[in-house]
Amino acid sequence: MKAQSRSIRDKKFPAHIAIILDGNGRWATTKGLPRTAGHEHGSKSVRTAVYGCHDRGIAALTLYAFSAANWSRPKLEIDTLMRLCAEFAENELEELVRRDIQVTVIGDIDELPRRTRKATEALVEATKSCKGMKLALALSYGGRQDMVSAIRQIAIRARAGLVIPEEVTEESIRSYLSTGNLPDPDLVIRTGGERRLSDFLLFECAYAELFFSETLWPDFSEETLDEAIAAFTRRQRRYGKTGAQVAEAG
Ligand code: IPE
Ligand code: IPE
Ligand code: MG
Repeated sequence: MKAQSRSIRDKKFPAHIAIILDGNGRWATTKGLPRTAGHEHGSKSVRTAVYGCHDRGIAALTLYAFSAANWSRPKLEIDTLMRLCAEFAENELEELVRRDIQVTVIGDIDELPRRTRKATEALVEATKSCKGMKLALALSYGGRQDMVSAIRQIAIRARAGLVIPEEVTEESIRSYLSTGNLPDPDLVIRTGGERRLSDFLLFECAYAELFFSETLWPDFSEETLDEAIAAFTRRQRRYGKTGAQVAEAG
């Protein structure tokens, strides 16, 4: 059976995959190369992940490419990562449009250097009517920062009488998050062996299944992706219920 047709029929297939792409620096260091070489190679894996998910019929993919905390890295490393983000947006625009992939950016886009901001804005604009997979690029993103921004917006609207505090709900909070138009991630994959979220989608990951891979991001392949999806399909998501209740509901 082809992966694409299976994804539509099998409700256990993840609709939204989110990836914390980690391990570029270590990949380079173990080869005696500068950390920036790891980022260069890692950008190939970004294409593997995006087109691999699209080929498998995944509805949404979020890639954690640069965290708000990553601004504290050395300037050369930041400059390299920002250039690679710009190059991805510039070079992949045509293929993303051809595949009908709709791109959004989550995170503080105003913090990005001009070329990266312009290139990502152009990509978002060019793909805004696309109806296929949703691709969210998390750039200068922080989960806590996103929640602070949502709470601030709600408080400002409450002060103006536009929001009634007693009527604030999980759903209304969600609509103020930068991920507002995306479903919650079903599966979070982190490469590089670390077992942490590093401030990624803290509100949205409440019930996400987590998959940690020892593979370093530049070595990420379709096999790593399939391994993570296969592990996901074997899990039972209980949302607080008992295993028997979930099995009975089918
Ligand atoms: C992921 O690789 C890239 C970003 C976080 C932007 P790292 O650069 O974090 O690689 P390691 O963790 O140092 O190996
Ligand atoms: C997480 O990786 C952020 C991204 C993948 C963009 P880091 O390498 O920055 O995370 P920590 O510092 O090890 O937690
Ligand atoms: Mg890292």
